[in-house]
This record gives sequence, C-alpha cells and structure tokens, in this order.
Amino acid sequence: MAIRIIGTGSSLPRQVMTNDDLAEVVDTSDEWISSRTGIKERHLAKEETTATMSAEAARKALMDARIGAEEVDLLIAATITGDYITPSTACEVQALLGAGKAVAFDINAACSGFMFALHTAYAYLQTGIYKTALIVGAETLSKIMDWTDRSTCVLFGDGAGAAVVRACEEGEGSGLLAFEQGSDGSRGKVLACEGRQNGNPLAGRPFVPSYVHMDGQEVYKFAVTTVPASIRRVLEEAGMTEADIKYFVLHQANIRIIQSVAKRLKAEEEKFPVSLDHCGNVSAASVPILLDEMNRKGLLEKGDKIVMSGFGGGLTWASAVVEW
Ligand code: UT7
Repeated sequence: MAIRIIGTGSSLPRQVMTNDDLAEVVDTSDEWISSRTGIKERHLAKEETTATMSAEAARKALMDARIGAEEVDLLIAATITGDYITPSTACEVQALLGAGKAVAFDINAACSGFMFALHTAYAYLQTGIYKTALIVGAETLSKIMDWTDRSTCVLFGDGAGAAVVRACEEGEGSGLLAFEQGSDGSRGKVLACEGRQNGNPLAGRPFVPSYVHMDGQEVYKFAVTTVPASIRRVLEEAGMTEADIKYFVLHQANIRIIQSVAKRLKAEEEKFPVSLDHCGNVSAASVPILLDEMNRKGLLEKGDKIVMSGFGGGLTWASAVVEW
C-alpha cells in the first residue's frame, strides 16, 4: 500500500513585522538578523489563534486534496503553543472543520512535530487502521517569546501548515518511501520553555510566566551534525543518493544551517527551498508551510523525490524520503 500526501494548505497571520520594526522593540538591526539568520520578516498573530490558523490551513489542504472533512479518519496537530492545555488543538480543529468521524490528538515534538505527526499517520495508515489522515503543524510562538530578549524574539514567527495523507491503491504512486526519527532528552534544556508552576497549597509557588530560552550555538551544532546524518540514513534506506532528490524541504531555523547541511551532503543549494526569509522560524509549522508554498508554485510534479527533515526542541529530529 502507498501512503501519499494528496493535498497541502497553509495559513499565516495577516500582520507582518519586519526586522526594522523589531529594531524599534529591542536593540537589534536588520543587518544583524539578516546576516546571522536570513530572516527578513515574520508574521505575528493578532486576532489569529493556533486553532484558527490550523483550521484555515486544514481547509485549504482538504480543498487541494478534493475531499471533505467528513472523510478524515485521523487528525493530528503538532504544536507546542496550543490555545488550551485541554482540549487539544486537534480537537479544536475537528470542531471548526466538522470532521466528526476523526480521532484527534496533539503531538509535542517542537520543530520536528510535523514530521513526527507524518510518521504517526503513516503507521496508522500502513497498518490499515485508518485510510485518511489530516496533519497540521501550527504555532503561535509569539506568545511564548520574551519580547525583551533580542537573542530569541527576532528568530520566531507564527503560522500553520497542513497536509492530507491517504492510503492509496498500488499504481497510484509510491508516496512515503523511507522514514527515521530520533530524540535526545538528555540535551533537552538547550532549547526550553517551562510549563506552569505548581501553585498547590503545599508547593505554594507564585505564578511566573515562562518564555523560550535557548543556547543558540549548541542548537546550531546539533542541527548541522544531526540533520545531514539523518538524511543520509533515509536516503540509504530508500536506496538513493542526494543526486536522486529534487528538493530538500528542511525545517526553517537559519539559512546558515540550511547552507551547512547542503554543503555536508554535497548537494546544490538550489535544491533547498527557503521560506524563513518571510516567515522566520515557525517550529512545527515551518515544513508544511514551505511544502504548501512549493506545491502552490507548481514546483512538485508527480514522481519527484523529495526529502523532508525537521529538527529542534526535545531534542528531536526526523527525516523522510517522499515520492510526490
Ligand atoms: O528551531 C530550532 C531552534 N533554533 C535554532 O536552530 C537556532 C540555532 N542557532 C542559531 O541559529 C544561532 O546560534 C543564532 C542565530 C541564534 C545566534 O547566532 P550566533 O552567530 O550564534 O550569535 P551569538 O549568539 O554568538 O551572538 C553573537 C553576538 C553577541 O554579542 P557579543 O557577546 O559578541 O557582544 C550577542 O549578544 O550577537 C549578539 N546578539 C545580537 N545582536 C543584535 C544576539 N542577538 C542579537 C540581535 N541583534 N537580535
């Protein structure tokens, strides 16, 4: 059985914040942000929420796949910035779409979240438990940023991306060809955001809001070593080399990470499409937003082989080889 991505969609908040706009909020400059990261601007939520952006991206993906919400069996949302602790973002999206048949739950794997969701959907579909999955990567990271910390707040953005994944009959294309994912909790604190503190009568701690903090250089080193190794392993599993791949669709954290991965893989940089210039780092949403932009530009043709790869908080990473 072939597990194929049959539709994509995305949604970005209406409001844009440029690097120059940010320079009025913290001590930074367009020159520093552009040269160190490749980011020029990002969309930040004002009225939008993680669930409303997810639902808009999901509706577009369903339309692209030409199927109705009632056909979705499995709805997985990857996010670290849901609107509620409970209900999950996936349950909120289910209600907004009217996808009454779907079983819905969230995955927390930060910037690898969409890839973890894709692999989870793959496992359900491959075993025949479900036929049609809707997976969403969505974040409102601006609500967990410390807007006085220039080392983090300039890097991230808000948005959502979605894909419809379906178990197809033989002859309808190959779909997902190889997959691997991994986690290293022992290094988790290099990119962290604490949850709520325990205010029970015994613990008695006051509520202090917590924001993302990161050892940027450690995360950078992790990314440029782990990602090429992970991609090499999935290529080997698929019996392919870099030369067989039309595009490498990577998590969008920093243009220098993307360039370093290209160099280490000895692959042309032109094969690495970029959305971080106008989206910033959107964590779980970055891979599906980029995939949707490529799909809508007509860059993906049936039979093309692409690699998708996510990496980040946890620490976590995941890569896949996909035939479009
Ligand atoms: O989604 C996955 C998670 N994130 C990542 O993958 C991020 C990985 N890491 C990175 O992309 C890079 O490490 C950063 C972009 C975060 C930082 O770049 P860097 O080249 O490692 O810079 P740095 O942290 O070493 O800082 C260099 C200087 C420091 O000043 P001093 O100590 O040299 O005087 C910082 O204080 O740049 C300063 N700096 C800034 N200056 C202007 C830090 N942030 C800013 C800023 N504007 N926004």
